[in-house]
Amino acid sequence: MDETVFDIAVIGLGYIGLPTAASFAAKGKRVAGIDVKQATVDAVNRGEVPFVEPDMGVVVSGAVSLGNLVAMSTVPQADAFIIAVPTPLADGKGADLSYLHSAVEALAPRLRGGELVVLESTSPPGTTERLGTFLMELRPDLSLEDAPGKKQVHIVHSPERVLPGRIMIEMVTNDRVIGGLTDEGAQLAKRLYEVICQGEILLTDATTAEMTKLVENTFRDVNIAFANELSVICDKLGIDVWRLIELANHHPRVNVLRPGPGVGGHCIAVDPWFIVDAVPEHSDLIRTAREVNDAKPHHVVRQAVEALAEMPEATVAVLGLAFKANIDDVRESPSVTIVEELVRQLPGRTVLVVDPNVDELPSALATTGISRLHETDEALAAADLVLLLVDHDEFLAIQPASLEGKLVIDTKGIWNEADPVDSAWTPVPVGANVGG
Ligand SMILES: NC(=O)c1ccc[n+]([C@@H]2O[C@H](COP(=O)([O-])OP(=O)(O)OC[C@H]3O[C@@H](n4cnc5c(N)ncnc54)[C@H](O)[C@@H]3O)[C@@H](O)[C@H]2O)c1
Repeated sequence: MDETVFDIAVIGLGYIGLPTAASFAAKGKRVAGIDVKQATVDAVNRGEVPFVEPDMGVVVSGAVSLGNLVAMSTVPQADAFIIAVPTPLADGKGADLSYLHSAVEALAPRLRGGELVVLESTSPPGTTERLGTFLMELRPDLSLEDAPGKKQVHIVHSPERVLPGRIMIEMVTNDRVIGGLTDEGAQLAKRLYEVICQGEILLTDATTAEMTKLVENTFRDVNIAFANELSVICDKLGIDVWRLIELANHHPRVNVLRPGPGVGGHCIAVDPWFIVDAVPEHSDLIRTAREVNDAKPHHVVRQAVEALAEMPEATVAVLGLAFKANIDDVRESPSVTIVEELVRQLPGRTVLVVDPNVDELPSALATTGISRLHETDEALAAADLVLLLVDHDEFLAIQPASLEGKLVIDTKGIWNEADPVDSAWTPVPVGANVGG
């Protein structure tokens, strides 16, 4: 029996690969989704999304029930391959490209010639070219260029720039950058993405496309670092950082971002290191911004430790584990670092962790002695200190009355509108309305 040749095989069914696969399938493409995790394959084949992301469930279940999306654990033949596997930080702050190499090794034997291979994973400059070389080592019978006697394979990089929480909308509406090893490859990829993308599709070379994605996140990181550094300076000066930023932003050409407890997720907290790693001798500002943002959780812990110095049996309610509002993703989350350190630095105190979007305690907290997550009301009722780390909708709905008589560290500024003199709770450190 002839083997099915799919229109598209998406390798990696996570936050990026699954919505990509489902979006193409919803447009009538025959899509195979491949993942090394059997539980993910099974969940997708049941029409389920194995993580929290608004609006994705209906698209995935629809695509599966129509038969346009099938998940599997081995790579089939396809006309186009989209690689969306993780590219986490390796020790030493470079990228761990082992997942990418595995994906290329898995698809290499399936190539017949003429296919398009799209690398969507965020990658250090030069990765697409190096993967091309790697693929040619695996398949010397093929060529990346139009070479006599050999069938060509087209490799491009098309970084994904969607925002968690808005993935289904942004996958369609965002502009998309495509960088090809050849112009022909870039054009082929443009035709592919036109199926789902209503934004502008901009063509360039692969290394510029890689750097575009890294620069976008680095721009954010550097600007957040400025806000975070300001918040620490304001704590020292006894100034309300939220009011300061509001006033400064009245200048027509100033737009200071909002501080927070640190920077998390596996994009903004990671991608700048790929630039630093590539050209370390000229990346001082980018490296320093990363270090400022990585230091912010420790500042928050210091505030909590100082506030509870005279309260040896206090209870702390930590509101928020995810790295940003209204999602369940705890990767690189500053909250996890903060909880770990709070437990270590506040022996004898009880730390109650709340996150309505997160089902399980992250494994990083396994050694803290914390055994479960708590409900918001339960934690608030017991707390002497409320530490707000994430502006989830559920936390925005908290009535100030439930903070009565408590110390409050509000790292997101959601309660800073309340007058600390009239309100029943006390911002920490006493005397300043705490920034983030
Ligand atoms: N999540 C985001 O918001 C976001 C945004 C833009 C870019 N990115 C980038 O997209 C890439 C993927 O990120 P993600 O958030 O989807 O990751 P993820 O961890 O959610 O998903 C990756 C999936 O790939 C699977 N996988 C790993 N190795 C595999 C292999 N060899 N073959 C098949 N499956 C394999 C994993 O089991 C997992 O399900 C990363 O490079 C990331 O930096 C992510």
